[in-house]
This record gives sequence, structure tokens and C-alpha cells, in this order.
Amino acid sequence: MRIVAIVPAAGRGTRLGAATSKALVPVKGVPLLTRAVRGLLEARRVQAVVVAAPPREVEPFTAAVRAFGESCRVVAGGADRTSSVRLALDSIEPGSCDGVLVHDAARAFTPTTVVANVAAALEDGAEAAVPAVPVTDTVKIVDSHDVITDTPDRSALRAVQTPQGFAEGVLRRAHTAQAASIAPEATDDAGLVERLGIAVRTVPGDVRAMKITTPFDLAVAEAVLADQDV
Ligand code: C5P
Repeated sequence: MRIVAIVPAAGRGTRLGAATSKALVPVKGVPLLTRAVRGLLEARRVQAVVVAAPPREVEPFTAAVRAFGESCRVVAGGADRTSSVRLALDSIEPGSCDGVLVHDAARAFTPTTVVANVAAALEDGAEAAVPAVPVTDTVKIVDSHDVITDTPDRSALRAVQTPQGFAEGVLRRAHTAQAASIAPEATDDAGLVERLGIAVRTVPGDVRAMKITTPFDLAVAEAVLADQDV
């Protein structure tokens, strides 16, 4: 199966408070973006990677992935995550792949097993597959006054991660439908596919696929890597 990965990396990372774009923030000297792309390619299921960079930073982002040669190229991203994914998808020749993985640069420490789990589900015929982990906190729904209105059954809740995998045509249809609608932006690609009524399969995720959002997350990643030669 020919699989191409898209890495949306065009976010500013305001919550991280770093001087550079979040994807270029180094952990043990290696930028998050470089780590995310390396993890995808090391799983040996992905033939090519397309990174969506902040439009004014295509050059430094290209430098961060230069080591991967022809396997990885960089395009200008958009104003929100959905448009960054769509712009990267538009740069991929229709029919040139069977499946597309979408992987947040911010999930730079995702183990290769998670990439393999998603790819395996696509190879098994799933139209959409996302890594998921059980939720350990009790989650509440609140109203506009921050008053709790509901407590969903925790056993039925999952936190989903990336890479999220899709049959190529399914992801294109989902993004075309979103571009033509007035529906609010979805926070992940599976959300767009769910709106088409297509079943999204979950596969085992991993706590190490955590999203680096705050300085605390970065400190956790640095602590975990402290004794490792990576
Ligand atoms: O903001 P959030 O943490 O949900 O962003 C998830 C991913 O989407 C990040 O890797 C970020 O770089 C990317 N993104 C993007 N284009 C934007 C905003 C976010 O590619 N305009």
C-alpha cells in the first residue's frame, strides 16, 4: 500500500511561549518537526512526507527536514489546522497514493508502533483509523457559565492522537465537504470524516504520542529523553 504522510506544522505555538515556531523548538538539540518526520519514516510504512509550514517560514522548515532528502518536502500552510492539511493534500497528485496519514508535528515522540498500527488498519481495509487511549480523568460538559451540565460515562471515552490514517479519496472528500460548508473547523481530520457518516476505527495509541502544547509538556519530554540517546 502506498502511503503518504501530511504533517501540519504551521501553528505558532502561542501556548508554548517559545521565540520560534513550535515545530522548530529543539528537544535535546533536535527540532520537534525533525523528530516527528523521523518517527514517521522510521516506521517504514510511509513513502513520502509533506510538511505544512508557516507561509513565511518555508525555508527554515525545509532546512529542518533536509536530512530526509527526497522523502520529505515542505509547502506553505494555512490560517488554521484544517486549511494547512488541505493545502498539503492539494499538493499531492490525486491517485498517487492509496492512503494518507495526518500527523501533528507537535506529537513528535510518537512511537513507530503507533504509526504501524494505523497503517495496518488501512491495509486491513479501514477507510479511517485513529490511535486512541483510555481517558484517565473524569470529563465534564459545562455550559457558558462554566457550570457542569453532564458527566459522560468515562468507560466510553477515548483521547485520540495522531497519525490519523485515511483512504486517500475519503480524506479528499472530507476536506472538500468542509471547504464547501459553514460547519465550524474540526480539531482533527477524523472529525471531518465522521461528518460524512464514515466509520472511523480506533487502534491502540500510546502515552508517548502526547501533544507538546505547554512548557510543562516540553519539560516532560525533556525529562523522559534525558537518559536516552535520542
Ligand atoms: O493548535 P493545535 O495544537 O491543535 O495544532 C495541532 C497541529 O496543527 C500542530 O502541529 C500545528 O502546528 C498545526 N497547525 C497548522 N496550521 C495552523 C495551526 C495549527 O498546521 N494554522
